[in-house]
Amino acid sequence: MSSLVVIGTQWGDEGKGKIVDVLTEKVDYVIRFQGGNNAGHTLVINQKKYILHLIPSGIFHSHTVCIIGNGVVVDPEVLIEEIENLKKEGIEVTPEKLIISEKAHTIMPYHKKLDLAREAKLNRSRIGTTGRGIGPCYEDKIGRRGFRLSELTSPETFKEKLKVVLEEKNYLLKYLGSEPLVWEEIYEKYIEYGNYLKPYLRDVSLIIWEAKKKGKRLLFEGAQGTFLDIDHGTYPYVTSSNTLAGNACCGTGIGPCEIDLVMGIVKAYTTRVGEGPFPTELKDEMGEYLREKGGEYGSTTGRPRRCGWLDLVLVKTAIRLNSIKALALTKLDVLSGLEKLKICIGYQWEGKELYTIPSTLGDFYKIKPIYKELSGWKEDLSQISSFEKLPSEAKLYIELIEEYLETPIYLISTGPERKNCLILRNLF
Ligand code: IMP
Repeated sequence: MSSLVVIGTQWGDEGKGKIVDVLTEKVDYVIRFQGGNNAGHTLVINQKKYILHLIPSGIFHSHTVCIIGNGVVVDPEVLIEEIENLKKEGIEVTPEKLIISEKAHTIMPYHKKLDLAREAKLNRSRIGTTGRGIGPCYEDKIGRRGFRLSELTSPETFKEKLKVVLEEKNYLLKYLGSEPLVWEEIYEKYIEYGNYLKPYLRDVSLIIWEAKKKGKRLLFEGAQGTFLDIDHGTYPYVTSSNTLAGNACCGTGIGPCEIDLVMGIVKAYTTRVGEGPFPTELKDEMGEYLREKGGEYGSTTGRPRRCGWLDLVLVKTAIRLNSIKALALTKLDVLSGLEKLKICIGYQWEGKELYTIPSTLGDFYKIKPIYKELSGWKEDLSQISSFEKLPSEAKLYIELIEEYLETPIYLISTGPERKNCLILRNLF
């Protein structure tokens, strides 16, 4: 098995960063294929906390090459700051170690302003975006008026296109009650960014193809989660890219038959940030407890995450949508100390029982979860070194998940550190 895609099976923040970090020990390339700096991976290495928004977490391993694929939208200011901060920590970020697709699209200052201005205008029906300009940048990519990163390295053509594009953006910004922008200021900054990034810009599809031919191991790291997917998520409360495993192909330029396995990351409970339906949400002290114990605050915006019980109907749908054949279960330690636990195993909908998610938003708001109740455990799981030593109640919780999902669990994360990880089966 040489190419693996890792995908969140819920609404993001499943703890993918930690799992990718653990798996990276065994891989040669870690590749991002969608999203932008709306994502955030929190990693704890030797008790020090790192948050990365654009650069794959593989950067902390000296043997790994990190790639940002063409499907990612890049805010050059954020990327450069991330590179510089890593360098200050003594982490190598050379063009051999970090490769960025020249086709990736650029987040421009007007994308961020439009994102914020639109959310303000929508007011109560807002999406709850991260305000990083992600949606407006993807809109321009599809509308064929965006800027690929490579365009920042051709000053004359960049200038002419920028003037034309900005005219329309300023019209929109004024309509939304926001200040217009001046092209000269954007131009100067972005040409500087282009000069800085030029050595990192390469043909990612070709590099991946050659690596695969040499038998290198590739790990494609999804950002956000399955139900934030623009097509299959809880539209319109989604992000503006395809977050599903299939997009690992379009977002990097690898063909679908080159993918060997898709691993789904399942958090032991459910969270979501921003607006949108959430059938198992707990709006009481239990939700508050999970938020505090699990540190459930957005790593990009710091917003408190909405918390609820594990929803297996949702995860089973994610297994179908992504061809998931292996699972990693995260944050199981957060559930220690609870007397009773609940897992959603179906929905009540108009007097019937449903075992898949509804396809319309209206029905999503109407469904009521059917729960199975289980006994909790008291032990601190971060101190446990093997599956066998887990309390019997935790084992039952895990077995129910595996049985319902008909998919094997390979890894269980029992704490934020690299060492808090139980390996049940070997991937490589
Ligand atoms: P956008 O991606 O900033 O446009 O935000 C759209 C929706 O996706 C909002 O509900 C965000 O909170 C959510 N979102 C975007 N990125 C992430 C992520 O990395 N984790 C969890 N939610 C996210």
